[in-house]
Amino acid sequence: MRTQLLTSLFALLMLTACNQPTSNDQQPGVTKSTFGSLSDGQPVDLYTLRNTAGMEAKITNYGGIIVSLTAPDREGQFADVTLGFDSLNAYVAKNPYFGALIGRYGNRIAKGKFTLDGKEYTLPTNDGPNSLHGGVKGFDKVLWTATPVEGDEPTLKLAYTAKDGEEGYPGNLVVEVTYKLQKDNSFKIDYQATTDKPTVVNLTNHTYFNLAGKGTILDHEVTLNADHFLPVNETLIPTGERRAVANTPFDFMKSTGIGQRINDSSDVQIKYGLGYDHAWILSGKEKTEKLAATVYEPSTGRVLEVFTTEPAIQFYTGNFLDGTLTGKAGIVYQKRSGLCLETEHYPDAPNQQAFPTTTLKPGETYRTTTTYTFTSRK
Ligand code: GLA
Repeated sequence: MRTQLLTSLFALLMLTACNQPTSNDQQPGVTKSTFGSLSDGQPVDLYTLRNTAGMEAKITNYGGIIVSLTAPDREGQFADVTLGFDSLNAYVAKNPYFGALIGRYGNRIAKGKFTLDGKEYTLPTNDGPNSLHGGVKGFDKVLWTATPVEGDEPTLKLAYTAKDGEEGYPGNLVVEVTYKLQKDNSFKIDYQATTDKPTVVNLTNHTYFNLAGKGTILDHEVTLNADHFLPVNETLIPTGERRAVANTPFDFMKSTGIGQRINDSSDVQIKYGLGYDHAWILSGKEKTEKLAATVYEPSTGRVLEVFTTEPAIQFYTGNFLDGTLTGKAGIVYQKRSGLCLETEHYPDAPNQQAFPTTTLKPGETYRTTTTYTFTSRK
């Protein structure tokens, strides 16, 4: 009788163990593997960060790219919720900034020109007439020096020094970005930079999220803590106006399905953006970390909350994805397969005096923080 009872108990225990998400089977910490090498032979690594809850982040030192992030659904099942590729070669060949660290200047600078302290600087243009995301070889395409930090909140420190004149920007810029996978399934990014000449800086991360792990993001429901957004011209440069979101397709003050108004081209802003591709001005104080955005995916129950010290968030709905890229596990990325929530200063701020400044001077330290927190609900 007693043996029988013990056997049943053992069987029950085994069954429970097998039903756990596979990601819980491994130890927390940081592991390093080879991701490939660049055409000049430089080796590139892939770091896997795992926390005690079983969440996992894969990061490569090429472009500081977040290759994957897993998050639990309402049943506790972890799945990859980011867009990306299986191989380094695919990232090098053509990456629409999946997972990438963006700098020296995130988003657009009109006509690739700005004036600082009376001197005009010319940047390479790579997006029609404008300079986008740091230029032809932005921080998303350079090799960062990675230092893993073990612990129950595994961390990866990435360092890069952009040279004076690199991609047209003045000043040697010493950049440090820290990715930390916290116990509560939040992924925290700390950005820091110093310069030896006045320059402009706007660092962000360009991860594309899809909380269902497949399909489009049209059924995801979004809340943005912003009652104004920045309308743009036809080349997506802000006009300088701050426009109220009330009574426009840009009102996400209350949780709203992305698909509900994304094709409302009676609003010229939707036409210019081909959907959503705009900066929302966040309510609350700059420099204090505040809730900027909440995304809920009804079929899985996954929830993503974005907290940031930044004054704006670029909500981009993957409008330029067109089915020509095949990503992880053979998934073809169609239009609107992913959404980006790029926390940032305003686009084109170096040319728009009324926008919060993006100038960094010698002796100052640029510091911003953004945290992506993953939970679930019924
Ligand atoms: C940003 C821009 C978009 C687009 C993507 C990359 O989010 O605002 O217009 O260029 O990057 O495809």
